Amino acid sequence: MSKKTLKLGLFGFGCVGQGLYSVLNQTKGIRASVEKICIKHPEKSRSIDAHYFTTMADDILDNPEIDVVVELIDDADAAYYIVKKALMNRKAVVTANKKMLAEHLPELYALQQEYQTPLLYEASSCASIPIIRNLEEYYDNDLLSAISGIFNGSTNYILSQMWDNGKEYSDALKEAQEKGFAESDPLLDVGGFDPKYKLCITILHAFGLFVKPENVFNYGIQNLNKQDVTYAQQHGKKIKLLASAQKYGNKVTGFVIPAFVEADNPLINVHNEFNGIILQGAFANSQFFLGKGAGSSPTGSAVLSDISALTYDYRYEYKKIAQNSDLEFSQDQLLEVYVRFVDRNDLNLSDFDNISQRFESAAYSYVIGEINLDKLNNLPWTKNPNVSLIVNKILSTVKEEFATPGHKELEYVV
Ligand code: HSE
Repeated sequence: MSKKTLKLGLFGFGCVGQGLYSVLNQTKGIRASVEKICIKHPEKSRSIDAHYFTTMADDILDNPEIDVVVELIDDADAAYYIVKKALMNRKAVVTANKKMLAEHLPELYALQQEYQTPLLYEASSCASIPIIRNLEEYYDNDLLSAISGIFNGSTNYILSQMWDNGKEYSDALKEAQEKGFAESDPLLDVGGFDPKYKLCITILHAFGLFVKPENVFNYGIQNLNKQDVTYAQQHGKKIKLLASAQKYGNKVTGFVIPAFVEADNPLINVHNEFNGIILQGAFANSQFFLGKGAGSSPTGSAVLSDISALTYDYRYEYKKIAQNSDLEFSQDQLLEVYVRFVDRNDLNLSDFDNISQRFESAAYSYVIGEINLDKLNNLPWTKNPNVSLIVNKILSTVKEEFATPGHKELEYVV
């Protein structure tokens, strides 16, 4: 297959843009050159020659010389405009913008079909881990029953630093920002929104299902404290921010919530800005992917791989959309959770289906009980900063005969 030389127009020259520029220059064999870079702040001093830069989006979008638009800005609304116009102008697009993608996947899928133009976004989900390409190509026939793991580098960095180095939450967050892992608005990371966007994207490629981010419950790491860490240590577990999607029959459930992971779970050894993904398939059973999930070069390397793929006309086929047309998203999933609270009135114990443990002290209390995921959305205590919610186990509510083959053998879900 002959490879063509691509002319690139970049949007954004921040952490990821500079990472891409650097990896592109260090890589031999990729036939692509940066022609123009659209930036928002022309007054900033730049590491490369001024002739590359413009502040006018149409210098790229309407430029017939440019074949590929590489969108690497962090404003999701502006990114949506850029990606949409580029596809309509039949320019292939590479983007890392998970929020923009998750919010507009059905339309972006339709635009790709209508204009017969590819949109690639490997860097959007777990940065350097090639999960989307694997889901598209390698797992196109296996019956996947679950995709779960650590989908956010900043929060994993914060939790690792608090755990291993005894750092305070605020210091660890500051470091994650300084190292270029965190979003401009770090609430997207610590509140569990960023991993939720990535979960929506990977659900599409794992199961062929479009899921709106607002339908997925997310709970961040902001309320975790030393008492939770002590509980985990006493039980030989660690706390990780877990993104999880499970398929039961024709339903797919999903959430992002901190979870206790046990010593035999590979996620326990995923440290700092690394991400880890566990796939559960009927035939291959359990598989684990590890790689850096944030940072300039790891993200740049995934963008570069997409650019390289465009040189041989690669595009996502989204085969699972047709294979799984009867699937629907559901929040009907029973979880065993640990809930730590201060004031007895913070919590309503009748919200739990079953309570297996209760601990009370003057300083803090906790319960371990079963609760349905769809209930969590509407419970006021999930918004209370004095309450901490951690998943202990994912419990299936689905009868055996509806379960996906292989689902009984889930090994590492939490
Ligand atoms: N803020 C994101 C993270 C960057 O920490 O994972 C990579 O998507």
